[in-house]
Amino acid sequence: MTRLAGKTALITGAARGIGLAFAEAYLREGARVALADIDIDRARREADRLGEHAIAVEMDVTRQDSIDAAVGATVDAFGQIDILINNAAIFTAAPIAEITRDDYARCFDINVAGTLFTMQAVARHMIERGGGGRIINMASQAGRRGEALVGVYCASKAAIISLTQSAGLNLIAHGINVNAIAPGVVDGEHWDGVDAFFAKYEGKAPGQKKREVGEAVPYGRMGRAEDLTGMAVFLASAEADYIVAQTYNVDGGQWMS
Ligand SMILES: NC(=O)c1ccc[n+]([C@@H]2O[C@H](COP(=O)([O-])OP(=O)(O)OC[C@H]3O[C@@H](n4cnc5c(N)ncnc54)[C@H](O)[C@@H]3O)[C@@H](O)[C@H]2O)c1
Repeated sequence: MTRLAGKTALITGAARGIGLAFAEAYLREGARVALADIDIDRARREADRLGEHAIAVEMDVTRQDSIDAAVGATVDAFGQIDILINNAAIFTAAPIAEITRDDYARCFDINVAGTLFTMQAVARHMIERGGGGRIINMASQAGRRGEALVGVYCASKAAIISLTQSAGLNLIAHGINVNAIAPGVVDGEHWDGVDAFFAKYEGKAPGQKKREVGEAVPYGRMGRAEDLTGMAVFLASAEADYIVAQTYNVDGGQWMS
């Protein structure tokens, strides 16, 4: 299928995991894709593997000069950006009594400020071009409610849902649809890190938390990155033209709202 033929996408955090699966799905739908990541070596390897319609772009979403350079490099390569996926993020966990200012600042800098100012940079380009666009932010079921050991990350993802609402309402005046996807628990390197946090704070054996969360998903297993690509393609496609400022759960039935 080629639902995104002629479109160009910038995807942050696309060197691995969900962002990489989005890049692969967009390429299958006929888009050209910039894989933007702080891990530029891995992004380059993946872009080379994916072929001529994929490029790697070095990007640290915590630095404005890096955001601007990545947007500029994508426009230079493709002529325009039609779709942005704000996917780069980190996870962190600690009991409230042990949260540090440094950890809070780093998580909010990447997850929240990174999303906001990348969205701003790409929205400016889209507004100047005048052709509208699509922005998809990565929220989480963690943004739907707090969790005892995950205060900072949960708050950062709640902020993404809120920013998606405000930006969606603001930017639709320019024909830019802003929406978000809230995954549940998705297997991969990200969740290997989450598992390690719970091993530390709940005394679980390595892999135990993963098994438990997978069994608790109504669908019957953890998500896979590929489970999310249908929604990412849909939200970027013409079929989603009337969808504005929403956050969609794609989580095997974990959360209802
Ligand atoms: N995996 C899950 O269970 C899950 C669940 C809910 C939401 N999410 C969200 O989905 C998105 C993707 O998750 P994932 O599992 O693929 O994560 P991941 O950790 O596998 O990948 C994140 C990518 O972001 C990149 N990155 C980190 N800091 C960066 C920075 N400062 N600038 C640019 N790139 C940076 C990393 O190098 C990595 O390639 C994230 O927003 C995450 O919060 C994931």
